Amino acid sequence: MGILDAEEVQRLYDRRAGHYDVLTLAFHALGFGRHQEQLVAELGLSEGAVVIDLCCGTGVNLAELSSAVGSRGTVIGVDLSEGMLAEAKERVRAADLANVRLVQADVRDYQLPDEAAAVLSTFGLEMVPAYDEVIERAAERLPTDARIGLLGLKHPESWPGWLVEAGVAATKPFGVSRDYEDFKPWVAADRHFERRSLREHFAGAAYSYVGEKARSPTYLEGGEP
Ligand SMILES: C[S@@+](CC[C@H](N)C(=O)[O-])C[C@H]1O[C@@H](n2cnc3c(N)ncnc32)[C@H](O)[C@@H]1O
Repeated sequence: MGILDAEEVQRLYDRRAGHYDVLTLAFHALGFGRHQEQLVAELGLSEGAVVIDLCCGTGVNLAELSSAVGSRGTVIGVDLSEGMLAEAKERVRAADLANVRLVQADVRDYQLPDEAAAVLSTFGLEMVPAYDEVIERAAERLPTDARIGLLGLKHPESWPGWLVEAGVAATKPFGVSRDYEDFKPWVAADRHFERRSLREHFAGAAYSYVGEKARSPTYLEGGEP
């Protein structure tokens, strides 16, 4: 299948959108849902904050984020796929999440709003070829101490080859292939944020990362903030 460009991603996820939540039930049963919830908690969101969910898909994180920032806060879900966003919109309507906005955009082009206080992305950035640029721009826009939370699949270095192949086959409907093996958003995040935590799940087949925007070295050295 190879590395998908934005149009291919859009087409693939528009096709999958109606079944995405059912297709991913097994992954939730394996514990991914718990990792997503923990990641949201680790963002340390306060009431009234603005948080961005990059590659939000059908909106699995939105209810959790919405309740963390409260009625004075805002959650912005960003995704390329109109089909996935239509599912997210329905989720927002059904749960009456009045503080959630959805934006159709490529995360590569999306500019975080000035007020953004945190960024989250689950099972998204490891399939975005420009992930380093996206993370770097987030670091530039976010205020000091703001957090980024990432959860995603990674190449399980210690798995036997046949098991890796089985894992890739199971995730192929979502566009996953071995061509993404070298995509490492948590490594990029380490270049632009100060790491707060990095955990591996399923013997290295997935990871959770939380980073915090550090004060600039100039500031620490007593220069201009
Ligand atoms: C595997 S789904 C994950 C959805 C959701 N975050 C979750 O945890 O279930 C990947 C999502 O990333 C979106 N996506 C992939 N590349 C993107 C890009 N460059 N810009 C915006 N969205 C993108 C896809 O449309 C899809 O909805």
